[in-house]
Amino acid sequence: MIEQKKKRIYILGSGGTIAGLAPSPVDFFGYTAGAAVIDSLLHRVPEINELAEIISEDFCSIASENATPEVWLSIARRAAELLADCTVDGLVITSGTDTLEELAYFLNLTLTTQKPVVVVGAMRPLSAYGSDGPVNLYNAVAVAADDASCGKGVLVVLNDTILSARGAVKQDSCRVHTFCGGDFGTLGYVLAGTVRFFAAPCSRHTYNSEFKLSDVHDLPPVDIFYMSGGADARLLNVMADLGACGVVVAGFGNGTFSDAVGEHLNEIMGEGVVCVVTSRCQTGLTRATLSGLIAGGDFSPQKARVLLMLALACNLGNADIARCFIEY
Ligand code: SIN
Repeated sequence: MIEQKKKRIYILGSGGTIAGLAPSPVDFFGYTAGAAVIDSLLHRVPEINELAEIISEDFCSIASENATPEVWLSIARRAAELLADCTVDGLVITSGTDTLEELAYFLNLTLTTQKPVVVVGAMRPLSAYGSDGPVNLYNAVAVAADDASCGKGVLVVLNDTILSARGAVKQDSCRVHTFCGGDFGTLGYVLAGTVRFFAAPCSRHTYNSEFKLSDVHDLPPVDIFYMSGGADARLLNVMADLGACGVVVAGFGNGTFSDAVGEHLNEIMGEGVVCVVTSRCQTGLTRATLSGLIAGGDFSPQKARVLLMLALACNLGNADIARCFIEY
């Protein structure tokens, strides 16, 4: 029998609960995110070395609530460098789960690769009883080392489930089964290292994305305005005055907002701020009811913000931005 050469998988650490440490194993909340190095995680799952040849790097050690667009950009640039290395077969990036959606989606739009890229996190710190970090990392490496993961865009792996970066949403604040794919569904599962896909993403990503990291020098400020009954529409002007180049409205239902918000949106769009309307609802489409306002389709506010930032960074005009909200 011909023995297959092991894949070479690079693990890039960025912190989060997966690398979190607390003084007590029953402390699931009062831990320091990103306190542990990747090596200490790997130490807990030596069997990972049977799946692939592993190389690891602690790129940064932050709680993901502190992951700014500059951090996404620096992780993307390092990831692109690694993926360009012909000796690297796939990449696993560890992240805090709180903003994992944004990081994974940013990478999905900017890494022009067919190689597997898997973003993984955990809900229980490494120091806790029943920590899900080691098994999630093991499963992430199994997915990154599997040929079936090629060309599927950036994947998110937690709790034995494989999701697309486009669909992945954190829906529970505490429990390990927090991520789901919403209308985008589940792409597959990974059980004790066995990978099985039953779907692939349909929207544009990675190798067929028009966004090139070389065109992105910095990410223009984009804010999210969250609708609520009687929301103070003047906050939109504050956003514009503080330098927002774009605003994403998290509207009611299919993208509605009060008349007052409509008036202030018209004002700031007149000043050149690009505005996109999404919904506070988990799933479904939005409509743009003002001239110049862009419909964010079925995008969540936070992923719409990522796409709008990139589109503005690449100097796309309103028509092309509207197209992106359909194609990506
Ligand atoms: C974080 O996002 O860094 C902390 C929370 C988590 O990873 O689950």
